[in-house]
Amino acid sequence: MLKVGGSVASDSDAALDAVVAISDAGHPLVVVHGGGPLVGEWAERLGMKTRFVRGLRVTDPETRDLALAVLGGLANGRVVATLIRRGVPAVGLTGIDGGLLRAEREDAELGYVGNVTLVDSALLEELIDAGRVPVVAPAALERESGEILNVNGDAAAGAIAASLGARLLVFVTDVPGVRDKNGRVIARLDAERARALVDDGTIEGGMRPKVEACLMAAAAGCRAAIVAPSGIDEIERLLAGEEVGTVFEAAA
Ligand SMILES: Nc1ncnc2c1ncn2[C@@H]1O[C@H](COP(=O)(O)OP(=O)(O)OP(=O)(O)O)[C@@H](O)[C@H]1O
Ligand SMILES: [Mg+2]
Repeated sequence: MLKVGGSVASDSDAALDAVVAISDAGHPLVVVHGGGPLVGEWAERLGMKTRFVRGLRVTDPETRDLALAVLGGLANGRVVATLIRRGVPAVGLTGIDGGLLRAEREDAELGYVGNVTLVDSALLEELIDAGRVPVVAPAALERESGEILNVNGDAAAGAIAASLGARLLVFVTDVPGVRDKNGRVIARLDAERARALVDDGTIEGGMRPKVEACLMAAAAGCRAAIVAPSGIDEIERLLAGEEVGTVFEAAA
């Protein structure tokens, strides 16, 4: 299970090297992608204004629609196109398809943003069994209303990995791992140390949901790691229990 960051996926396809390598090696695999920067770029092009409540971005219906269009359309299509060109049998979908992801609204004031609370991975399992590589754009349906909600890509990846019982969850991002106060990459993190780093502000911004997703997956018995774009060697090392980037372990 791999999550590819939007910031890396949009620049180059080096982020997808690991996907190609894992698929070529015959391992079953699911890809989740982000695309925050691309959504921001289109919001600017369209002159859409963003409003903040207590420092958090408010997702109004227009922003929700834009995120779905950009992530589920442009970003997803680009990732799938690159993978198909490189011989990977990729199939694009969003968290809405097959009722994959259900969510609950985080905070009414923040609008159409949800926390993933339920995963139905039946469609993913069918695709994997058919030899396909599902490529999932983050989006979900609200459990009660069936409304479309935006969800964080990292949280979606963590929830899907736990639901599938994946052996390995890898976040491919634009930094080589979680950095400590001095900027050094931390090789191994447990829940206690991770929480302390979140509390003192060392882990912030886009790293925070990634670390939370890793802790969640680790607690579910899945090996989780945050790495820079890597190849099959790094993935094989992770599968073998070695350290690459930052690896998370479940609390003893
Ligand atoms: N302690 C930390 N160590 C490393 N990076 C950190 C830390 N705290 C915050 N960050 C930030 O987190 C960023 C990675 O998250 P970001 O959301 O930008 O990428 P992504 O999730 O891969 O992409 P996307 O959100 O588009 O899917 C880094 O570029 C860095 O700026
Ligand atoms: Mg992010």
